[in-house]
Amino acid sequence: MPFDTVTSVTNYDKNAFAQKRCTKELVKMLPNENIKSIIDIGAGTGLATIEVIKKFPNSEVVLLDKSPQMLESAKTKIPDAAIINADAEVFDFTSQNFDLAIANLSMQWFKDCRSFLHKVVKYTKYFAFSLPLSNSFNEYYSIFKNINLPLIRFYTIDEILAMLPSNTDIISTRNITETKKYPTAIEATRHFKNIGATMPVDATIQSKISAILKSYKSPIMLNYDLFLCVLKGT
Ligand SMILES: C[S@@+](CC[C@H](N)C(=O)[O-])C[C@H]1O[C@@H](n2cnc3c(N)ncnc32)[C@H](O)[C@@H]1O
Repeated sequence: MPFDTVTSVTNYDKNAFAQKRCTKELVKMLPNENIKSIIDIGAGTGLATIEVIKKFPNSEVVLLDKSPQMLESAKTKIPDAAIINADAEVFDFTSQNFDLAIANLSMQWFKDCRSFLHKVVKYTKYFAFSLPLSNSFNEYYSIFKNINLPLIRFYTIDEILAMLPSNTDIISTRNITETKKYPTAIEATRHFKNIGATMPVDATIQSKISAILKSYKSPIMLNYDLFLCVLKGT
């Protein structure tokens, strides 16, 4: 499932209620240490970066994202930050070590989270990340249970913990839930589009999705079940 920046670059900040809450909770979990360099991986529009900078105002900040449009938006909020337009999964971290790397709700877009986790903890002192868990959006997904949707696969907490490199200390973990009720399934679907979550499907599946959305008239809850974690590389 690709991340779509066309709609999200303008609508993301207004719609990213779960990402904002998650950022605030993740920042509370960060170490009270002298952090001099930070890289935000999958920085998007810089929502999370701004909160992290409030805690470490004197740090040098790098924003990494594979979307130039999202980086452009982030740069307007954080003009002093250095920009890296790259795919985090192939980016070579060897040239610079960071005191802190964060990835707030971005790794779910990666093809191979395990390899990324092993790579990033080698070159960063602390790595703080959040991921949606497998229970997320269960009410919304249930309305499509009779059609075969290519849904993004979210992990369980055990699966995430099993992906962590063995030479890493887990400093802190949290599980939080953030929910929002939408008056219709169409509006809930619009939320996903506004934050860049798209589902490439063929015309047959698309017409089935449209029919289900049109016929589903009740309010619907979107639940983000979120896992937050701070690691220390050793
Ligand atoms: C949901 S947004 C999260 C943005 C931000 N971290 C926040 O908390 O608001 C996901 C971001 O990850 C970026 N992204 C997805 N896959 C990526 C990859 N492989 N490398 C770099 N950035 C990626 C997308 O372009 C998008 O800006």
